[in-house]
Amino acid sequence: MDAIRIRGGGPLRGTVPISGAKNAALPILCATLLSDGASRLRNVPALRDIETTAALLRFLGRDVTVAAPEVHVDAGSSVRPEAPYELVKQMRASVLVLGPLVARFGRAKVSLPGGCAIGARPIDQHLKGLEAMGCTIRLERGYVLAEGPGGGGRLRGGEVYFDMPTVTGTENLMMAAALARGRTTFVNCAREPEVEELARVLNKMGAEVDGAGTDVIHVRGSERGELAPFDHAIIPDRIEAGTYMVAGAVAEGSDVILEGAQMSDLEALVVKMRAAGVEITSEGQNIRVRRTGPLRAVNVTTAPHPGFPTDMQAQFLVLMSLARGESVISETIFEHRFQHVPELQRMGASVALRGNTAVVQGVGTLYGASVMATDLRASASLVIAGLVAEDETEVRRVYHIDRGYERIEEKLRRVGATIERVKGAEA
Ligand code: EPU
Repeated sequence: MDAIRIRGGGPLRGTVPISGAKNAALPILCATLLSDGASRLRNVPALRDIETTAALLRFLGRDVTVAAPEVHVDAGSSVRPEAPYELVKQMRASVLVLGPLVARFGRAKVSLPGGCAIGARPIDQHLKGLEAMGCTIRLERGYVLAEGPGGGGRLRGGEVYFDMPTVTGTENLMMAAALARGRTTFVNCAREPEVEELARVLNKMGAEVDGAGTDVIHVRGSERGELAPFDHAIIPDRIEAGTYMVAGAVAEGSDVILEGAQMSDLEALVVKMRAAGVEITSEGQNIRVRRTGPLRAVNVTTAPHPGFPTDMQAQFLVLMSLARGESVISETIFEHRFQHVPELQRMGASVALRGNTAVVQGVGTLYGASVMATDLRASASLVIAGLVAEDETEVRRVYHIDRGYERIEEKLRRVGATIERVKGAEA
């Protein structure tokens, strides 16, 4: 297994190009199942999750060519509406094929994703929504078996209330509704930019989606029961940008340009970073991050968009470990999302965990250590800690990082970090 080795040092300076958004690309790749033509996605990041989705689409019968930053998807010879456990267990977002498959082919068999490192993550809201559109759902031997009305017929529009805003739930059901007969209303939707981006693509494909980005979305299904192929460039990855924003703030004297990052998608983080004493400005298509003075402690509670993103909690906690004073960081989205804390404690961070709240006392210095994490964002936070830690830090199980950060060591090296990938390191 690869590891990333970092020698902590001084400030970062220079430009980091921001890649296309992983969590926008994944549902959009699944949306290609709604059409039979050849679709082209541009600005797709070169990541393991993209490869996994391509493998899943191929298994389903599509022709997929991945040549990052482009992916081409064409109709293959036949479709097998079945997503096996072997693929779904590698990536929970595979469940995003459920809505498109049952809407397009009248039936689908998709493995239940099971729990993961950050929480139980059920999909009850996805299933409840499909039922509201006339599906019959059975759970059998770890699989969801979904069937359209009357034993494989076309879905019908309905009304869906989400008990909590769910990102992939909203996306899955929007795709299903785009082929349903009539109009579907979704209430208490996720408002993440990735949901808006999927709506943009569905509208390009000929669906009628209104309200994405707000908590009420209306979808009028296609009259023909099929959508057109599309050509689309994916929005920049706000979490990747946010991660480099924090990386550009941990060392005093840093001055980093995030090339192609979109400030409007990152407002909660930007407000908190500024409150912590980091200078953040919008410069044309870029964001500039400067750290000129000491960091102040600020409190953060994660919340659905436009609240503070859970996907930035681990990285922000590292920043607060270096601030003056005490900060309280509360996680409200996932129940096991503090796995970076014991590793950061080994690096000298002072954090007390009480349930879903971390109380962080800023320390002047972190120390290098061998660390590992069990999820993507936690791993990113350890890399950031390594950038300022004394001596050497080795972050193990890098495959988590490769799921969501394109060429992270190369991008950090560009701005002056001393970082390398070690092939075949100890697990
Ligand atoms: N939930 C349910 N039932 C459901 C669906 C969700 O109880 O049917 C709960 C979840 O357990 C969680 C909350 O609702 O407590 C919100 O979860 P959500 O469904 O929004 O999460 P997700 O769609 O599975 C996406 C991202 C995650 C990101 C979360 C929250 C993708 C592919 N994944 O997951 O990204 O953390 O939204 O913003 O879009 C990552 O990129 O590292 C990552 C984990």
